[in-house]
Amino acid sequence: FGKSLNLFDSVESTQNLARAAAEEGAVEGTIFLAEQQLSGRGRMGRGWISPRGRGIWMSMVLRPSVPVHFAPQLTLLTAVALCRSLMRVTSLPIGIKWPNDLLIGGKKISGILLESAAEDERLRYVIAGIGISVNLEAADYPEELLEKATSLRIAAGQKWDRNELIADFLKEWEQLYFLYQEQGFSLIITLWEALSVSLGKPARLITPQGDIVGIPVGLDESGAIRVELANGLTKAVFSAEMGEPQ
Ligand code: BTN
Repeated sequence: FGKSLNLFDSVESTQNLARAAAEEGAVEGTIFLAEQQLSGRGRMGRGWISPRGRGIWMSMVLRPSVPVHFAPQLTLLTAVALCRSLMRVTSLPIGIKWPNDLLIGGKKISGILLESAAEDERLRYVIAGIGISVNLEAADYPEELLEKATSLRIAAGQKWDRNELIADFLKEWEQLYFLYQEQGFSLIITLWEALSVSLGKPARLITPQGDIVGIPVGLDESGAIRVELANGLTKAVFSAEMGEPQ
């Protein structure tokens, strides 16, 4: 992985570069990294703060030979790899908030954005976008975001070497991806559940079809989260925003 590494100074979004390359036939493992993104994208149509030189803004082209509905598995795999790698390098206590936010002390330090293109129910390619707030300072964030977001630098009180973080993450990602392709998703489920900070606590999952209130208890085989409802039934939720129960 990362054998084809494309480095840029300033771009709109590395997601767009990776997508265009994938459409042109870029091979699996092609990576786009930028020092700065002018319109970094987050999940749910939000933006992503990507100031120059302060973070890791990266998109990878994947070509997994799995059905379309397995795409969430790759998001969870990426979150596991990132969490394990960042904890190993920084020794900071990092947890995963479903589906793919990495948190330190309840504040977000990293996010993952998976975008895919499909044909005949198979994935043609997947773009895995990874944003890691490495060396951002408080002044890099708008005031209202500081309650919800932090960086490795703010959390640890020291700067980090981005190259070391990228190299370690890619190694971890490649190992997990190999195991996933050899053995299937169950190993990822076990690892994800062990790192999750979302299980066992009442939550509100906000979906376009309405809110679901219950207790997330684990993942299912497709990567959906299983939520125990007040009526005792369990519901599988594929995509939602996770909020407080109120
Ligand atoms: C989230 O909302 O949590 C996902 C954030 C993903 C940000 C990364 S940074 C690299 C890539 N390029 C983008 O524009 N977004 C992703």
